[in-house]
Amino acid sequence: MLTNQDSDSGKRTSLHGHWSSKMAFILAVTGSAVGLGNVWKFPYVAGQNGGGAFVLVYLGCVILIGLPVMMSEILIGRRGRRNPVATMELLGEEEGSSKKWGWLGVLGVVAGIFILSYYSVIAGWTLYYIVKSATGAFQSADAATVSGIFSSFVGNWKIVLFCHTLFMGLTIFVVARGVERGLEQAVRFMVPALLALMVVLLGYSMASGSFGLGVAFMFTPDFDALTWQSVLAAMGQAFFTLSIGMGAIMAYGAYLPEETSITGASGAVVTADTAIAILAGLVIFPLVFANGLEPGEGPGLVFQTLPLALGQLPFGSFFSTLFFVLLSFAAWTSALGLMEPAVAWAVEHHRKTRGQAAFLVGLLIWFIGLASVFSFNLLAETTFLAGTLFDNVDYLTSNIMLPLGGMVIAIFAGWIMCRNSTSEELGGAGTLYKMWRFLARFVAPVGILFVLLQAVGLLDKLGLG
Ligand code: PFF
Repeated sequence: MLTNQDSDSGKRTSLHGHWSSKMAFILAVTGSAVGLGNVWKFPYVAGQNGGGAFVLVYLGCVILIGLPVMMSEILIGRRGRRNPVATMELLGEEEGSSKKWGWLGVLGVVAGIFILSYYSVIAGWTLYYIVKSATGAFQSADAATVSGIFSSFVGNWKIVLFCHTLFMGLTIFVVARGVERGLEQAVRFMVPALLALMVVLLGYSMASGSFGLGVAFMFTPDFDALTWQSVLAAMGQAFFTLSIGMGAIMAYGAYLPEETSITGASGAVVTADTAIAILAGLVIFPLVFANGLEPGEGPGLVFQTLPLALGQLPFGSFFSTLFFVLLSFAAWTSALGLMEPAVAWAVEHHRKTRGQAAFLVGLLIWFIGLASVFSFNLLAETTFLAGTLFDNVDYLTSNIMLPLGGMVIAIFAGWIMCRNSTSEELGGAGTLYKMWRFLARFVAPVGILFVLLQAVGLLDKLGLG
C-alpha cells in the first residue's frame, strides 16, 4: 500500500508515494520473485542439467551474486526514486559519471518484454490446468494418462493460444487499471498457502518410496558432469527466480521508506524464494523417480508430476485445482513486474495514458509470445542454437540479458557510486556493508563475466580456459 508521506530526512521522495510498511515492500518483492521460476522452471532446469552440482552452483549464485545484486538494485532505486531509466540517468550524473547509465533501463524494458512473452504462455498452461483439475481429469489417473493429457494439450496450438491470450488479458487489465497494490495484497495469503500446500505434497512425496532417490539427485553433486553451459543455466536461474537484473526490483525500491533495512528485506525475500524452489524440487524429483518419468523431461515436468501426485490424494481434484489457482496467482503477480518497466517507459517517454501503454505493450508481448505458443506444436521441429524458439528466447533473456544487466548494476553500485552514498542507503559501514561492497565490486561482476565468457567458449579459444 502506498502512502504520500514525505521522508523526515528531507531527502528525495517518490512522486508516487511510499510503501506503507516494510512488510508491504517485502510482499511486493516476494510477489514478483515467487512465480513460475520456482515451481515450474527450477525443477525442470535442474533436471535437464543433472541435478546435484547444478543445485549447488545455483545456491552459490543466489548467495554470492543474487543477494548483492538485489541489494544494489534496491539501494539504487531508493536513492533515485524514479523509474529505472530516469534513476540511472540521475544517479549517473549525480555520482560524477554520465547519463548514459540510463541505457541499463532500456535493456530492462526489452528483457521484460521478451521474458513475459513466454512467461505468459506457461502461465496460460496453469490456467488450463485449473479447469482440467476442477473437472476431475487427474483424479486417480496413472502416469501415462497425465502425460497424455499434457502432450495433447500443448500439441493443440489453438487452446494454448487461447490460454496465452487470456493470461495476457488479465495482466493488461491489472496493469492498465494500476491496481497492482490490490493484487499484491493477495501475496499475503498466496505465498503462505502455496508453501503449506507444498509441505503437504512433501509428505506425499516422502511416502512415495523414492524420496531417497530424489534427494540424492538434487544434492549429490557430480562435478565431472557439470559443463559451463550448466553453470550458466544455474546463474541465469538465480537471476530469473529473484527477478533481478532488469530493473524491476529497482522500480519497487523507489517507493521504499528511508528507515527500512535493505539488507534485512533482501535477506527475507531471497530466503523465501529459495525455500520455495528447493521445496518444489524435493516434491517433484521423488515423484519423477517413483513414476518412472525422466528428470530431464523439460518444460512439461511439473505439469506431469504434480497432477499425478495430487490425483492420488483424497480430494485430489480439489487440491490440484487449488494448486494451479495458487500458481496462476503467483505467475500473475510476477507478470506485473515484468510488464511494469515497459509501461512506465511508454507513459513517461511517449506520453501515453497508463491504459493505452498497457494495451500497446501487452499487444506487442502477446504477439512475440506466438513464437512460444507454436514452439510446442507447429514449430516444434524448428530448432537452432539453444533449441526451439521458446528455448532461444528463454536462453537469451535468463542466461544473457539478466546476468549482463546484473553485472552493470553491481558495477554501478560498487564502483561508480561513492562509498558515502551506498553506506548511507545500507545503514552504516559495518561488516555487512563491507561484505556487500566486496561482493558487488569484485565477486559479482567478475563471476558473471567469467561464466559468460566460459559459456561462449571464449576463454577456451584464447587458451585461458
Ligand atoms: N521471478 C519470477 C519467477 O521466478 O517466476 C520471474 C520474474 C518476474 C523475472 C519479474 C523478472 C521479473 F522482473
